[in-house]
Amino acid sequence: MATQARPTVDPATARAVIDPQSYADWDPLLDTFDRLRAENPVAWIEAPDGQHPPFWLVTRYEDAMRVSKDNATFLNNPRTVVFSLTEGIEFAKAFSGGSEHMVASLVTFDAPIHMKYRKLTQEWFMPKNLRGIEDEIRAIANAAVDRLVAAGPEADFTQLVSAPYPLHVVMQILGVPEEDEPRMLMLTQQMFGGQDEDLNQSGMKDLPPEVITQIVAGAVKDFEAYFAALTAEKRANPTGDVASTIANAVVDGEPLNDRDMMGYYIIVAAAGHDTTSASTAGAMLALAQDPEQWARVKADRSLLPGIVEEAIRWTSPVQHFMRTAAQDTEIGGQPIAEGDWLMINYVAANHDPAVFDDPRRFDAARSPNRHLAFGAGAHQCLGLHLARLEMRILFETLLDRIETVELAGDFARSKSTFVGGLKKLPIRFTTS
Ligand code: HEM
Repeated sequence: MATQARPTVDPATARAVIDPQSYADWDPLLDTFDRLRAENPVAWIEAPDGQHPPFWLVTRYEDAMRVSKDNATFLNNPRTVVFSLTEGIEFAKAFSGGSEHMVASLVTFDAPIHMKYRKLTQEWFMPKNLRGIEDEIRAIANAAVDRLVAAGPEADFTQLVSAPYPLHVVMQILGVPEEDEPRMLMLTQQMFGGQDEDLNQSGMKDLPPEVITQIVAGAVKDFEAYFAALTAEKRANPTGDVASTIANAVVDGEPLNDRDMMGYYIIVAAAGHDTTSASTAGAMLALAQDPEQWARVKADRSLLPGIVEEAIRWTSPVQHFMRTAAQDTEIGGQPIAEGDWLMINYVAANHDPAVFDDPRRFDAARSPNRHLAFGAGAHQCLGLHLARLEMRILFETLLDRIETVELAGDFARSKSTFVGGLKKLPIRFTTS
């Protein structure tokens, strides 16, 4: 099966798919995905730069769903689950003691260990438990809107609201004191924004891949030092937050080892922040571009959950995750060999016209809206209820206090193949 010719793409298409710059300029990228989905839906991508291993790009919703849900055939090991991390894979291996995963976390585990670790915090992220922290989240949302209002009538929504707000929430649930948040912001942006010079704090354009990897590794080391101290504190004085749950967790009768514990903190801190920032900014973009929609939802709050869900689909902040085939198989009729590497592209899947009518349009009334932005199967986003809750509370607060809103200049997306979204969103607004 594996010896059959693989449906490759031309170098320009391959470059478009793997170049972080493409993700800063979405429309041409969506055109590329449309073409591939129609002509070559499971395409073999060979990087023209030779720096990345080849992989299967899955662009159809149905195929992306199947790969996500078949966790026995499509594993999160042994290859890295984030495409760009192959750029410094030797460094990652040296750093981690041989694994392609620089950090050991839920997204790098497979069965049976994955579920044992996931169960440790799963209850905590359920709606029933989250109800207990709604007031705290609302206070954080209010503070963010205070900052925006104080800076008005024109301000960058990303800087004042969508970037800091989910960070505050996630830091609160991890029990990180407010004075340490700037450091955490820098570290998460270095880990996720490593491909974008505005976000990786270097200010340097087109950094060589090994330098980007070292930025990420440096951030991981800083995280580890920080959370080692937090663990000691949460073991001595457990509180009800996620950090206390992780610090005191026991798997198979043993406390978590340092690498696994750090990975757990890092995945919660990192996964819960830039992702929700991106979907929050996307929701504001959609509303600022369509003032009538803002007025409609101001008058009828029952429209808000639809706006939140559509913003998550429309932005697809996590743009891909990779899998490794555990055995020979097929996807949509395309033979796949054991050991092959695959990319589930959530941006492409969430813009599949077979499932989403007029997919580039922001449609707050889209129903059903069974998007794949949170993934599916065993690894489906642990924080999906929290992300929706955060967005709902923030927009309730905004709708209470902002009368009208419109775009006040050019917006910009970040350069990243992995987690991406708006890094600049100037808005003009009036208050109620
Ligand atoms: C709009 C915001 C968010 C989006 C789009 C998003 C998206 C995703 C995606 C696509 C995955 C992988 C799913 C898969 O492999 O099938 C994931 C996993 C995960 N997410 Fe989120 N996420 C968001 C917010 C959050 C938040 C707020 C948290 C927690 C604070 C969080 C924590 C996690 C964790 C821990 C995992 C790993 C789960 C596992 O491997 O079992 N996410 N997320």
